Amino acid sequence: MEVKIGDFVFTQEERAAIMDLIARNTISEGRKCREFESTFAAFIGTRHCASANSGTSALMLILTALKYHSYWGKRISENGKKVLTTPLTYIATANSIATTGFEPIFADIELDTFSIDPERAKEISETEEGTCGMMPVHLMGYPADMDALNLIAKKRGWFVIEDSAEATGSVYKVNRTGSLGTAGAFSFYIAHNIQVGEFGALTSNDAELVERAHRLKGNGRVCYCTVSQIEKGECPHQNLGFHPRYLHDMIGYNFKPMEYQAAVGIEQLKKIDWIISRRHENVRLLNDLLAPVSGDLRLPIYSDDVSYLGYPLLIQSKTLSRDKICIELSKAKIENRPIFNSIPTQQPAYAHLKKKYIGKLPNAEFAGNNGFYVGCHQFLRQEHIEHVAKTLIAAVKS
Ligand SMILES: Cc1ncc(COP(=O)(O)O)c(C=O)c1O
Repeated sequence: MEVKIGDFVFTQEERAAIMDLIARNTISEGRKCREFESTFAAFIGTRHCASANSGTSALMLILTALKYHSYWGKRISENGKKVLTTPLTYIATANSIATTGFEPIFADIELDTFSIDPERAKEISETEEGTCGMMPVHLMGYPADMDALNLIAKKRGWFVIEDSAEATGSVYKVNRTGSLGTAGAFSFYIAHNIQVGEFGALTSNDAELVERAHRLKGNGRVCYCTVSQIEKGECPHQNLGFHPRYLHDMIGYNFKPMEYQAAVGIEQLKKIDWIISRRHENVRLLNDLLAPVSGDLRLPIYSDDVSYLGYPLLIQSKTLSRDKICIELSKAKIENRPIFNSIPTQQPAYAHLKKKYIGKLPNAEFAGNNGFYVGCHQFLRQEHIEHVAKTLIAAVKS
């Protein structure tokens, strides 16, 4: 029996949506992307959404759009270039900051939620000069403490970008993640809660920011109409003296998604309640079955508000080795992954930051050394979950 981290099954609806595009000879970004954007914005609870070709692109589009934007009445450059984030995340979070000309700085995490500890964030907000924003991550679907983090940001005039790549559908208090800060970014990568393969989106109530993001994904051109209106003489930019599709007022990227990505995304979104509730059932069952080893393995906190990306575990017994446990899981055909690691102290790409952060991120390093996750996705049945629990208990007791 194989237990994957995530699985994708092309349903009849997804096939039909793609076949429809083929029948209409449609491929580049267009009506389906717009439909996905309005559906997704309504689902998250924001006024606007822009789709992108990945979650990383969505993060980069928000950061780049903000540079051109006045925020709290100020240009971002007036506040500085530092963006406070979590050390324990997929590298794309930090990379999006570094590659858009900002500088990532890090506050340690809380082990219960794997997210930035607001107390640590507050300390850093009082000591690090030149910080302009914050990028909390809702890792594994667990919402960061957004009230506390927003309060810190508000006091300093920072923007807040929620990296909600792993948390489509998670709820913080009464609102969905991605609607709680300046903007939110989502990934619909194959192993995520909504699966398209490669696809992403950003959400915000700020119309200007989202409009800029739309234009930045087309290399910063002045317009982003799905179908050019110039031939009809109806283009609002036709008198600029040059074809608006080739007139660029910002330095951008090609991060445009394709129609088939949006078409699959729309079908996936129709199933989100089922996806989340199947994951809830699997997390609850795993927690029940693993209760006998909860002294050795720190089990994930269960909450109806979390849209679980996976089932995260932390080894808390000093006599157990993560590597050995993961080898046993792999031998039993149970896919497993580490819960990332502490970016500034455990990632070679950020080795230049090691000296600054060594000894300052104990929880992130603990999770980096002792954390791993297995799947809890919607296609796993009771026998899969029992197989995972049995294998883990045997590995812990051996
Ligand atoms: C926390 C986090 N941020 C950003 C990303 C980037 O998303 P993508 O792979 O769609 O570029 C991921 C992807 O796994 C992620 O887990």
